[in-house]
Amino acid sequence: MSTRRSFLAAAAAAPAVLSMHALPAIGAEPTPDGTAHVLPALPYAADALEPHIDAKTMTIHHSKHHAAYVAGLNKAEEELAKARISGDYALIQHWSKQAAFHGGGHWLHSMFWKVMAPPGRGGGGKPTGKIMAAIVASFGSYDAFTAQFSAAANAVEGSGWALLHYRQSDGKLLILQAENQHKLSSWGSTPILGIDVWEHAYYLTYQNRRADYVKAWWNVVNWAQVEQNLVSLGG
Ligand SMILES: [Fe+2]
Repeated sequence: MSTRRSFLAAAAAAPAVLSMHALPAIGAEPTPDGTAHVLPALPYAADALEPHIDAKTMTIHHSKHHAAYVAGLNKAEEELAKARISGDYALIQHWSKQAAFHGGGHWLHSMFWKVMAPPGRGGGGKPTGKIMAAIVASFGSYDAFTAQFSAAANAVEGSGWALLHYRQSDGKLLILQAENQHKLSSWGSTPILGIDVWEHAYYLTYQNRRADYVKAWWNVVNWAQVEQNLVSLGG
């Protein structure tokens, strides 16, 4: 009986497990054992996005900056777990903020690497299919979309992101800014494309010319991945 019960329990649990892993992750991947966040590998060589994003920038950005967000998120979650055990919440505000900042950084960078591809080999060009249809339906035209997105990216105050979100409640796409990794966030929508406009993302090549970086970045956008992100959310 116990074997039969185990089998039935496993069979009942299987669909939930399968459905959880069937959808591709837009941002950070599930952790192998659920205990710590890990830095994902770049999906291409560090020099693959040249000349638009140089290899040194990619290497430092991934191995130093993104790695620091992963470490910071793990640290924040460890400290919050300790607080739950000790009951000492004197630093709850600090660690809650750290969890949001580093968690935002880890998720957004995990998405960022995936929504780019080498120019002419998956990167650049115009979107097609569902993602193009959604862009036209939400913004009127592809040109109107890129104009608004670039303007939002160029105008982020200080460090941050321009993000294309999918809002599941009405099926619309919207463009939002994020300061740092998380501020100005809305609710009920999920980023499916984003550009990092922290200076660490472009300064070695473009110095203070952020608009040149934003213009060049369109040459490496991986539209197939963006469409997959949209579809994974039911769009
Ligand atoms: Fe970054």
